[in-house]
Amino acid sequence: MIQLPGKTAVGISPGKLIITGEHAVVYGQPAIAIPFPLVKVTAQIEAYTKGIWLESKFYEGPISKVPEKLLGIAACIKETLKKLENPQAELLIRIDSTIPLGRGLGSSAAIASALVKALFNYFGYNWKDQELMELVHLAEVFAHGNPSGIDMNAVTNSNPIIFQKKQPVKTLQVGGSFHFVIADTGRIGDTHAAVGSIKEKFDQNSRETYQSLLQLGSITRTSEIALQKGDIKSLGNAMNSAQIELQRLGVSDQGIDQLVQASMSLGAIGAKLTGAGRGGCIIALAENTHQATMIADSLFTKFNCTTWQHAIHKSN
Ligand code: PMV
Repeated sequence: MIQLPGKTAVGISPGKLIITGEHAVVYGQPAIAIPFPLVKVTAQIEAYTKGIWLESKFYEGPISKVPEKLLGIAACIKETLKKLENPQAELLIRIDSTIPLGRGLGSSAAIASALVKALFNYFGYNWKDQELMELVHLAEVFAHGNPSGIDMNAVTNSNPIIFQKKQPVKTLQVGGSFHFVIADTGRIGDTHAAVGSIKEKFDQNSRETYQSLLQLGSITRTSEIALQKGDIKSLGNAMNSAQIELQRLGVSDQGIDQLVQASMSLGAIGAKLTGAGRGGCIIALAENTHQATMIADSLFTKFNCTTWQHAIHKSN
């Protein structure tokens, strides 16, 4: 690792969880997401003397030679420096992430958001949310092709949000405590391919596919009310209904279904995939902390999978 003395700046961004509405959100339906701070990206910037040097788990070297999957990040760095009127800046950029890649936990949006924040901090720039979002969007287009924008909004917000394309993002006021268990199938899901598969389905069978997407939108409205009222049962039912629609749309798979069913057998009130699916993670809703711990421990024992417990509480 290269060590240089002098000024450093840091940018941090959490992961995200989609409660309901993934995929349907691409077609203009609402979706609910929450920041997931148990996993995060930290970007650190220092002065350097030979252009821009990137240090990360996936790549170490000059920005001019990044592999294809980091092209979005490279474009985002260049555009941010242009905005900061410092396009020739020479920087050492370290990216450290605890967000597993391609598991629907918002890793690509969080990397871009942490990076842009670190660059803004390094140059002492007092940014507006919109400016941060526009730059993160650049990287997201490379990563996802046609992102709805929910990921970048969720990782740059500290509260649960209800997101709908072309509408202002709303903060969701939560009326009680909700205890979630997240479990990782251990398989990377390809968001681009999953979104593409639904588009294909839509082109082949628009009526049925549209019905599912509309239904997912309506499930999100029910979830919104359940969260506002602190109604665990109603949110659990909504999550189960969402999983059925996501199965119909073909983005669940055997590994996801196994974790969902096991969570339900262990007493979860609801469980579904979270994010794009076809691999990635599931999210289950438990009655309380005690039950969440029991579900997380049992899933770990049975499937040897990584699990997290995350709760959200009544908004102030
Ligand atoms: O990045 P992922 O895998 O969490 O998927 C984001 C949610 C989708 O609705 C599947 C895609 C999008 O752009 O909204």
